[in-house]
Amino acid sequence: MSVCFLNGEFGPLADARISPLDRGFLFGDGAYEVIPVYSRRPFRLEQHLQRLANTLEAIRLPNPHAPSEWAAMVGEIVARNPWDDQSVYLQVSRGCGERRNHAFPMLTRATVFLMSDELVTVPAVQLENGVSAVSAADFRWLRCDLKSTALLANCLLRQLAVDHGCAETVLFRDGFLTEGSASNIVIVQDGVMIAPPKSHLMLPGVTYDVVLELAARHGLPHEVREILEDEVRAAEEIWMTSSTKEVLAITTLDDRAVGNGRPGPVSRQMYTWYQEFKTTVMRGG
Ligand code: PDD
Repeated sequence: MSVCFLNGEFGPLADARISPLDRGFLFGDGAYEVIPVYSRRPFRLEQHLQRLANTLEAIRLPNPHAPSEWAAMVGEIVARNPWDDQSVYLQVSRGCGERRNHAFPMLTRATVFLMSDELVTVPAVQLENGVSAVSAADFRWLRCDLKSTALLANCLLRQLAVDHGCAETVLFRDGFLTEGSASNIVIVQDGVMIAPPKSHLMLPGVTYDVVLELAARHGLPHEVREILEDEVRAAEEIWMTSSTKEVLAITTLDDRAVGNGRPGPVSRQMYTWYQEFKTTVMRGG
């Protein structure tokens, strides 16, 4: 039974209760983070907490905890759950008003919730063969840089992938790549890794940052610039990056092979660097 934290108390997840007036439930009025944990050590915790702080500030929700308090809570949830490798989910909503009203309640206490699950790693067959993706128009709002719990559009777009037997939906807005429904997307062209620039139209991924840092550290040619939809469709390689998928090659897009239809050399190299980095940083090896 996994242990969660809700408004000051740790307890079994199955017993946790929130009010139906919680604005997270009624309006998706909240922020969240998903933090991978390796050998009981949270990966890039500071960066996840900074992104949380950025989202809370942008949605005008006072951050209920200082970074050291958040770190202690994450540490506690990791310690109370049974797995060495975990995926910690952390959510802050704007609490409850006295009735349903779009405008913020005058006095309310944020709802703070953390839970954890065993970290589900990418199956070996997907690492070996890559995964399929579909594409769709990015019909989300214009603040996709915020990690808001209001994820209906992302859910619809992700389900589109599932409906097509695919792992991800690659999103285009006005002829340009934005990201995936639950991941960032980078491409490789002529051996050069190309990542779209951070903007209000994509989530600034923690994994995206790690991948760019690793490219710089290892001298992999790379660029950060707007990527045309046509460039994605003609790319040698397409990868998705996220805390849970890490670096995963997309080998089919809309039923057409990407490159030769196998994970390319650059994605394999980046995957290896990523695993090495995790091992040295997280596992102390
Ligand atoms: N999703 N873009 C979107 C829309 C995402 O939902 C995510 C992560 C990312 C990658 O961000 P990061 O590298 O920081 O995990 C990009 C998480 C895992 C989720 O919602 O479950």
